[in-house]
Amino acid sequence: MSMPLHGAELDAAITTSIATLKATFGEQGPEVAVVLGSGWAGAVDQLQDAKHLPYAQLPAFPQPKVEGHVAEIAVGRVGQQRVAMLRGRAHTYESGDCTGMAGAIRSLKAWGVKVLVLTNASGSLRSHQPPGSLMLISDHINAPQRSPLTGLPGSDRFCDMSVAYDAELRQQGFKVARDLNMVLTEGVYVWAVGPHFETPAEIRMFAAWGADAVGMSTVPETILARHAGLRVAGLALITNMAAGMSDEALTHALTLQQAKASGERAAAFLGQYLASLATLASLKG
Ligand code: HPA
Repeated sequence: MSMPLHGAELDAAITTSIATLKATFGEQGPEVAVVLGSGWAGAVDQLQDAKHLPYAQLPAFPQPKVEGHVAEIAVGRVGQQRVAMLRGRAHTYESGDCTGMAGAIRSLKAWGVKVLVLTNASGSLRSHQPPGSLMLISDHINAPQRSPLTGLPGSDRFCDMSVAYDAELRQQGFKVARDLNMVLTEGVYVWAVGPHFETPAEIRMFAAWGADAVGMSTVPETILARHAGLRVAGLALITNMAAGMSDEALTHALTLQQAKASGERAAAFLGQYLASLATLASLKG
């Protein structure tokens, strides 16, 4: 993804993106948007009557540098729920800038989105949560202590993070897991910027802090979404035991391999979860 825009350039890109989203998919955006992370890509098959638009047409969205990577938004229905799926995200390790999803998230909010579901691949810090597990994020630790709101004006930048991951949306996750007879753990996600993996000493420190899973995304997006007034749900697919917790060396190939092995189950859960959001009274009106 290329360098994120800022200031007036970003504002102009958001205005253009909102207009294009409305012209392509309809004046009123869906109530729910989901960012599909590693391992979750297959969920796009759950979208009915889907229309697709490349990020290249949406200047506020992360612009891919390499052709061939999927970088698009797909909008349709999962059951009765209208959903926008974001296929491709900006990571802080690509540019050093943690604001890469700001334009996309603010455009979605202005279009009418109320709930942002963030998905990712993570390393596990707990032995009861082996590779293949699905973890609902209850809270996060911003280990690098970096904020995508740095430099913004206004007092709303002092944004409350005490219930970052929405209680009702979490409860709904457990309801769906029960209905599907699936194990869903709950835990704290810690952000590491990457792109290198962590050291075993870092992992021991994160575990002592109370973290249950570690990954390289999600936290800046949650902060941006809470600042924009969106409700957030977070889902982590555990692809490996974190550094020092198993004899296996950590590689991106291992992450992708495990993501593929568990992807179908993750996508099936996500599809049921998204469809179930249509039953929430708090999302109507
Ligand atoms: N560490 C950081 N990010 C990750 C990991 C990990 O072990 N696994 C998947 N994403």
